[in-house]
Amino acid sequence: MEETVRSPERLAGALAVPGDKSVSHRSLILNAMANGSATVTGISDGADVRSTAACLRAMGVSIEPLDGPGNFLVSGLGPNLQEPADMLDAGNSGTSMRLLSGLLAGQDFLSVLTGDGSLRTRPMGRIVQPLQQMGASIMGRSGDTLAPLAIRGGSLRSIEYEMPVASAQVKSCLMLAGLSAAGPTVLHQPALSRDHTERMMTAMGARVETDELALTLHPAELQAVDVAVPGDISSAAFWMVAGLIHPNARVTITGVGLNPSRAGIIDALQMMGAGDSLLLENERVEGGEPVADVVATSANLKGIELGGEIIPIMIDELPVLAVAACFAEGETIIRDAAELRVKESDRIATTVSELTRLGGKLEPRDDGMVIHGVGSLAGADVESHGDHRLAMSMAVAGLAASGDTVIHSAEDASVSYPAFWEHLASLTGEQ
Ligand code: S3P
Repeated sequence: MEETVRSPERLAGALAVPGDKSVSHRSLILNAMANGSATVTGISDGADVRSTAACLRAMGVSIEPLDGPGNFLVSGLGPNLQEPADMLDAGNSGTSMRLLSGLLAGQDFLSVLTGDGSLRTRPMGRIVQPLQQMGASIMGRSGDTLAPLAIRGGSLRSIEYEMPVASAQVKSCLMLAGLSAAGPTVLHQPALSRDHTERMMTAMGARVETDELALTLHPAELQAVDVAVPGDISSAAFWMVAGLIHPNARVTITGVGLNPSRAGIIDALQMMGAGDSLLLENERVEGGEPVADVVATSANLKGIELGGEIIPIMIDELPVLAVAACFAEGETIIRDAAELRVKESDRIATTVSELTRLGGKLEPRDDGMVIHGVGSLAGADVESHGDHRLAMSMAVAGLAASGDTVIHSAEDASVSYPAFWEHLASLTGEQ
């Protein structure tokens, strides 16, 4: 499917983005392995979260729709998850594969996890190695580094582990395995990453201690907990940038989750000079997470240098930040972001190549990129490279570029944001 985007006279409207993808996965996985039933409301309708739900259903978990979009009753099986009769398919979702591997390592049965072409090229050694240290029998292709992964779960040892990457997926995988380990699991993180697992496990009765970059999880049986999933800041980021770079815009995104371990994009856009053009309204706490409405209006942005601790807390927003940087004055330098190379696509290579097609001036670096602000882009044909966030970032570029921007494989957006194209049409007044 192709989508053609052109810059409207005015970009305006209010919308609610899908439920946070990371919180959605965790609300299903943790409640599935808890004692009791829980209602989860507003979970993401994207393909990634559907993959997690399908895998859990294959283990005997009941996830029944309730009234209202994204509302489900999850009936936890506690320690009684069942051996799946077939391979578990995580689709495009790294979160599904890595988190479920941690859960499966502690289950006394055999499971095989696979995924689509992109997921089968992504690094799994980062979870296989520490799970093997815990005593799990887990193997994969290419010397246990690539999916499919075969796991014969069982009893696990406790480990103290120095994490080589600041990854919430690795951290959460090991925490899920650690729930059934013989003693505490101690993790040393190189930098803080999103903390939804820590928050939700704590709410479900587990003891999680954090001391700066160290985290200790004590083995626990979880008790089911209702979860109200906030709007996904990673999806909201597309409309924030669109509102800032379009010359005549006012876009309101309601109910956006602003957990500090996710909100780096707001800080980065403020560093670029967004000022009063990026406002938080109705700040509140919902379901234990800070939430606000975000209002983005046209702004003159300037280039910045980004690196260090902010990178893991805005890792998924870097492609769309690169779009903002093309429209900014001066140079933007992104460092310490080598993780971008192992996402749904190599996001350093794909962001640079597609924005270059639109007339951007970008240089790839091993661990990031340099973006020379050119102040404008010109429509052209661009590819999604099988990457939802790239497809949506290019659409945002198209909203402020001259001429037509044609996004190929535009359907990839549905991995995290099925209503993306409809929402775009509502903001441009085409609907
Ligand atoms: C996620 C963690 C991040 C992020 C991904 C979702 C999560 O990945 O890129 O979209 O839900 O834990 P890493 O942990 O690999 O950095």
